[in-house]
This record gives sequence, structure tokens and C-alpha cells, in this order.
Amino acid sequence: MANKVKTVWYCTSCGNESPKWMGRCPACGEWNTMVEQPKESRKAVPGASVPAGERHRPVQLRDISAAGEARISLHNGEVDRLLGGGIVPGSLVLIGGEPGIGKSTLSLQIPLHCSDLRTLYVTGEESVNQVKMRAERLGGDTGQCFIFSETLMENILAEARSMMPQLMIVDSVQTMFTETLDSAPGSVSQIKEVAAQLLRFAKETGVPVILIGHITKDGFIAGPKILEHIVDVVLQFEGENRGSYRILRSIKNRFGSTSELAVFEMTGQGLREVSNPSELLIPMHEQGLSGTAVSAMLDGSRPFLFEVQALVSSAAYGTAQRSATGFDVRRLNMLLAVLERRAGFHLSAKDVFLNMAGGLRVSDPACDLAVICAVLSSNFDFAIPSDVCFAGEVGLSGEIRPVGQTDRRIAEAARLGFSKIFVSSFSSFDRKSAEGIQVVKVADVPALVKALFK
Ligand code: TYD
Ligand code: MG
Repeated sequence: MANKVKTVWYCTSCGNESPKWMGRCPACGEWNTMVEQPKESRKAVPGASVPAGERHRPVQLRDISAAGEARISLHNGEVDRLLGGGIVPGSLVLIGGEPGIGKSTLSLQIPLHCSDLRTLYVTGEESVNQVKMRAERLGGDTGQCFIFSETLMENILAEARSMMPQLMIVDSVQTMFTETLDSAPGSVSQIKEVAAQLLRFAKETGVPVILIGHITKDGFIAGPKILEHIVDVVLQFEGENRGSYRILRSIKNRFGSTSELAVFEMTGQGLREVSNPSELLIPMHEQGLSGTAVSAMLDGSRPFLFEVQALVSSAAYGTAQRSATGFDVRRLNMLLAVLERRAGFHLSAKDVFLNMAGGLRVSDPACDLAVICAVLSSNFDFAIPSDVCFAGEVGLSGEIRPVGQTDRRIAEAARLGFSKIFVSSFSSFDRKSAEGIQVVKVADVPALVKALFK
């Protein structure tokens, strides 16, 4: 009988393994994420079993010294901040994003600006000459940066162990492969194994490793998704490829807070840090445009302001369309229902389109208030003055609920020169943060409409 290759099915979203195809992954509940992979015949890994003498023993927590938490600065203010104040020695950081968004640019820019760090930059995608050309574009010091064009993990780790760099960068996980597995580079099992080997290397030697991973829009040729459990930190690039702004978001961080965000601008000389994103996300136009409202939002620990845009028009077909970019469309539907039932606005026969400025993806409930104001502003063609901003959550009975850290939102709005901010009547804040700005407290949607459109 012919020797048939045995296969298993993996979920590209969570890495769950199954002997047969399933439409929906039973572990994470995602649809259409199962891909077929040949079943691995694992060869013996040399050095995988540790000699008994070197085995670790359990240690009492109080006997462990907290030293070693020293972080290494990457001389890139925004990346350092996202990581929680620099990269932790021995950590594995994954930078994910769609092709062409700037992962290679950022990861090469880091060593060029860290003249004090001996860096090993491993590339499986470009030749050393191509990297050189890119480095010349980016400028900076090339003295301590070693480029290694290689894809076989065994060679990479041997080289890294003999060189002992202070920072290692691997571009990208999909191009690397290990001889211990039979499958092709980029397959789910190779990606997992490559990441596991890098993690072992990082933990054993204390060398921080930055790993690049591609993801596609629909997340199909995944990788980064199944790696999230393995790595210590996940930073993800977002943003429209066509625009020049890129958002780098921390999705997971074992050594710092998550949902922090940094904004970069792609220029001819690489990625420039935008340390004050509010300035590019708030209105660039003169007063008098309807359908826009500014929200004071908090992303991670940083408050910033951005514009919410809405367009309300009569529905061309029987059923009204609702579409939202960067905002949960179910939440938009809920807010529209609240406007209809609690404040008497008839929007059910209208198409409503919502957009968050700058390609931002928003999950802070404090944006509700700006969303309903933008919708009403477009519906009545009434412009909201451009020096007014909003921060509040809208409840199902039309009440406006307080949001966390109102002080900091108010202070940021005041700093950017806004003269009025609408918040919930129930929010408590420090008077000092409200210097130079008028804080308008509103209890529910009808009160808001009265205060704003009177
Ligand atoms: P790249 O880092 O190669 O993307 P990734 O590694 O995520 O696939 O970025 C490629 C894009 O960035 C490409 O469209 C060209 C642009 N770019 C600049 O605009 N300026 C620069 O200085 C560099 C190096 C690239
Ligand atoms: Mg690249």
C-alpha cells in the first residue's frame, strides 16, 4: 500500500490541533481558520534533554533576587515606551503587521540608532546588499550592526551563540525553518518551532530577541496569532498602507501595560516618531463642517484627542445601511437605537456611516458621546464648534455615564487649546485639571442635545 502522508489540521487563530477539518475551531470559536499540515515526524533534537546535573530546581520566591530587571533602551522613545521602558534582557518580542507596513524598516532603524548595542540582524527576506541600501536610506551608525542573511535556524543559533550579541533581530518568522521538522518554512508547525527555539535561546543567554511576523488582512496566512502565547511581548502595526501614518500597538506585554499605542510617520528616511498624536488626529479644517466631533480618549495610559466623523443620509434602499470603520458596528447600532428611543430622533430610515480619523481602531467606551454628537451633527447639518470635545459613555436608558481618568482627559483637552469639554454629570475630577477649560456636565442624551444644539 502506498505510504500516505498523515496530516493534521491546525487553527490559524489559536493553534488548536484537530485530526479532521472543522468549519469552526472548537477551542477559540473562529470560523474557517483550520489549515491542513503534514503531521510532524519529530527527529531527535540534539541537546534537547538537559543533563541531570544542570536541571533547574524549585526556588523559594523570597530567595530570588529581583535584579536583572534592568532594561535596555532602544533609543527610540516610542518603542521604549510601548515596551514599558526599554527591552527586557532575555525577552522575545514579536512585531506583527501586514506586508509593506514598515516592520523591516523599524527593526533596522533600531540598531542603526543604538550605537552602543552589538546587534545581530538576521534576514531571511533580503540580501545583505538590499539591507545595506535600506540602511543608507535610513542613516545612522552601522558600526555595531551585523547583518546575517540566513534562513536555517540551526545556523542562526550557532552563529548567535558564538557572537553573543546584545540584541538579536529576526526578519521574519515565516521565512525561517528548522531541520528538526519536515514541513516547509512558513507552515504552522515550523513557525511554532522557530519561535520556541528563539525563546529558548533568549531565556538561556539573556539576549533580547525581536521577531518579525507577517499577517494578512483576513489573518489567513497566520503565524503571529498562534505565536501570541509563546512570546513575551506582541507589538502590532496598524494603519492604512496608503497613508503615511502607522500605529504600533502593544497587544500583549509581560513586562508592561498593554493597549499602549505609538504613532509613526513613514518618511523618505524611515519611520519618524510622532510623540504628540493628538495634533494629527484632530480637525485640520476650518470651523463649519457638520458631522464631526472630537473625542477625548484614553489609549493605555495616554490620553489623546481625535476626530470622529459621521455621515447620515436618507437610505437609498429599503433597509438602512450602517457601517463603521474603526468602531464596533454593533455598538453604533446600539447608540442609534438609544437616540431613537430615548431622545426621539428618527434615524431608522437613514444610512449611517462612521469613521475614526487616522485609521484608528477605537474600543474606549468614552467615545460614545462623540459618536452620537457626530451623528446628530450630520443629521441636522449643524456644525459642532471645533473647540469642543467629548468624553462619556452612553447607557441603554440614554444616561451619560462617567468614564475612567476624566481628569487626564480634561487636562489633555485643555493643553491642546479646547475651550469646552462635555462629560457625565456623575464624573468626579480634580478642579486643577480643568483650568482654562469649561467643563459641561450632562446627565443624559436629551440634556446633551439641549446644551449642544440649543
Ligand atoms: P517595510 O519595512 O519593507 O515593510 P515590511 O517589512 O513590513 O513588509 O516597508 C516598506 C515600505 O516602506 C515601502 O512601501 C517603502 C516604504 N519606505 C519609506 O517610505 N521610507 C523608507 O525610508 C523606507 C526604508 C521604506
Ligand atoms: Mg519586511
